[in-house]
Amino acid sequence: MEERKFSEASELLYKGRKVRGMDFNKPENFPLFTTSAFTMNSLTEVKEAYRSKFTYIRTSNPNRDALGEMVTFLEGGEKSLIFSSGMGAISTTIFALLKPGDHIVCNRNIYGETFDVMNILLKKFGVESDLVNFDDNENIKKAIKPNTKMIYSEVCANPTMNLVDIPAVAEMAHKIGAYLMIDNTFTTPISIKPIKLGADIVINSLTKFMNGHSDAIAGSITSTAAIIDAIHPIRMLTGTPGDPHAAYAMMKSFGTMDLRVKRQMSNAAKLAKALEQNKYVSKVNHPSLDSFPQHELALKLFRSNEEMSGMMSFIVPEDEKKIDEFMLKLHFAHYAMTLGGLRTTLVHPVTSSHSHMPDPDRRAMGITPGLFRMSVGIEDVDDLIYDFNQALEVFGS
Ligand SMILES: Cc1ncc(COP(=O)(O)O)c(C=O)c1O
Repeated sequence: MEERKFSEASELLYKGRKVRGMDFNKPENFPLFTTSAFTMNSLTEVKEAYRSKFTYIRTSNPNRDALGEMVTFLEGGEKSLIFSSGMGAISTTIFALLKPGDHIVCNRNIYGETFDVMNILLKKFGVESDLVNFDDNENIKKAIKPNTKMIYSEVCANPTMNLVDIPAVAEMAHKIGAYLMIDNTFTTPISIKPIKLGADIVINSLTKFMNGHSDAIAGSITSTAAIIDAIHPIRMLTGTPGDPHAAYAMMKSFGTMDLRVKRQMSNAAKLAKALEQNKYVSKVNHPSLDSFPQHELALKLFRSNEEMSGMMSFIVPEDEKKIDEFMLKLHFAHYAMTLGGLRTTLVHPVTSSHSHMPDPDRRAMGITPGLFRMSVGIEDVDDLIYDFNQALEVFGS
């Protein structure tokens, strides 16, 4: 791999690191700064603090900054900012970079609340949006207008895993001087680095795979120094910088991210293959599968079948009673409205994220009452395969 090793990033963090004007004597663990302000003793010190040190917790904080450096290292941009959540990162960035009269072309298959930002929130502030299917680049081309300032997508769509051709869409965006903003939450920089493929801005909900321990919420934005410096003052005004405790918790989790996420991605690829062979599963959506309609694009975007995503979805018979029995028979996977944790979790989009959508519209997107979205954990994959196969037997009884 041409990239520096992840262990070097840990070294950067844990050993003898210098945090803007504060010297540490090599703390083995990066300390938690639970102070809302830093004190100064003279106007000279005040001026110096404003220039290069810390002043107030909403402006900057050592834990957030250090976590941001880790994210920059991983994503390969110039600078990152940490936010209170993934949604805080998305909305603050768009507020900072767009103005009334601007237009966004957004993938229609995105996280529900991002969809609402594009479709409801931005409209209140005079920013237009068109949500189209990014499976076909022609749809994007057709949706572009003279006032398009941003193209927005996730690497993998929720919950069907449809991919976006990042290099091709980046070219379209740059031709018209627009930003390409990519959500890397389902994939993480362990799998793919959208900035290297041409994206201008990358957002991660750190709450998910990157933290992995389901115990904290935060988001990040990575981009050029100029773009990040434009977002920073708006983050101050929207009050979305996030709490240092979350940054501290995540910094610990980041030390095992490479191990965790690689295991999750490879477990997902193996489980997807096994589920595809089960007679009660009519469809499995994972980019590693030969049957995945964009498998060729997946091989172009990712390093290998086992390093794509820990997310997948599958379809069982549309029988609610049997579905309940199936869920009750599973020993490992349980239902949870999150993803990316150490344990395998399931979501049923028809009763949750896509419950508001008319059935024909959902079906057109491949979302049927038999569809489960799954976030694969770090369990022994043979245990998971055995467990799913025994639970799926309920559909034969
Ligand atoms: C793809 C994606 N992006 C963004 C978010 C928002 O992240 P957060 O819950 O940290 O605000 C989520 C949340 O599930 C998500 O799945």
